[in-house]
Amino acid sequence: MRFNRIYLGRPWCEAIVLDDGRRLIARPMRSTDGPTLRRSFDRLTPDEIRMRFMHPIKELTPAYADKLARIDRTQEFALVLVENLPPEQALIGAVVRAAIETDTRRAEFAIIVGSEIAGFGLGRYLMGRVIEWSRKKRLHEIYGRVLSNNQPMLTLAQRLGFKRRLSEEDDDVVEVFLPLNRRAESAPGPSG
Ligand SMILES: CC(C)(COP(=O)(O)OP(=O)(O)OC[C@H]1O[C@@H](n2cnc3c(N)ncnc32)[C@H](O)[C@@H]1OP(=O)(O)O)[C@@H](O)C(=O)NCCC(=O)NCCS
Repeated sequence: MRFNRIYLGRPWCEAIVLDDGRRLIARPMRSTDGPTLRRSFDRLTPDEIRMRFMHPIKELTPAYADKLARIDRTQEFALVLVENLPPEQALIGAVVRAAIETDTRRAEFAIIVGSEIAGFGLGRYLMGRVIEWSRKKRLHEIYGRVLSNNQPMLTLAQRLGFKRRLSEEDDDVVEVFLPLNRRAESAPGPSG
């Protein structure tokens, strides 16, 4: 880990100080973040966009950005790492999100850490937070769809204990999944 965290007294909110001195705020996505997401999207490389969205996207339309910013907190989680600047200037450097699938106890996650802040351990940190949210929601599984040539994400998932299975829909995609509540499942019952 090449950063320090300072809890800010509100759920999921922390100040992040990178070892090179840059400062970011970790906080839940806000419904007003659409324009910030659009500006931040423009800084991503085509490769990063393809890895995150699984296909090329030229720009985030205002409607799509607003959709990404509007979170139903009962079923979804989204955490951003954002510069500590006024909203009209700040850029979002990373996002992790998860959404519970209807009528299941599993959630799909997606993550992006922009190259300007990659390699500091922030991907691992954000994955830890989304796993924590999933455990609080008592989900049975969190999983993500990863392009099969996306070595950084596959390695990160493996380090976090995720397993792999082939996607039923797409040959180029691997699903990485983490079974949750293992401790609860393996714990002895009241009679021992
Ligand atoms: C994958 C991604 C999230 C990693 O973010 P990051 O902040 O750079 O990752 P971290 O610094 O936390 O690294 C954590 C681990 O990931 C692995 N990793 C990260 N970058 C890597 C790279 N370029 N090559 C190989 N492994 C890498 C390593 O195992 C690393 O652990 P280590 O430092 O102990 O070796 C980031 O590269 C990204 O957003 N990529 C584009 C979008 C994407 O692929 N999303 C996944 C689709 S769901």
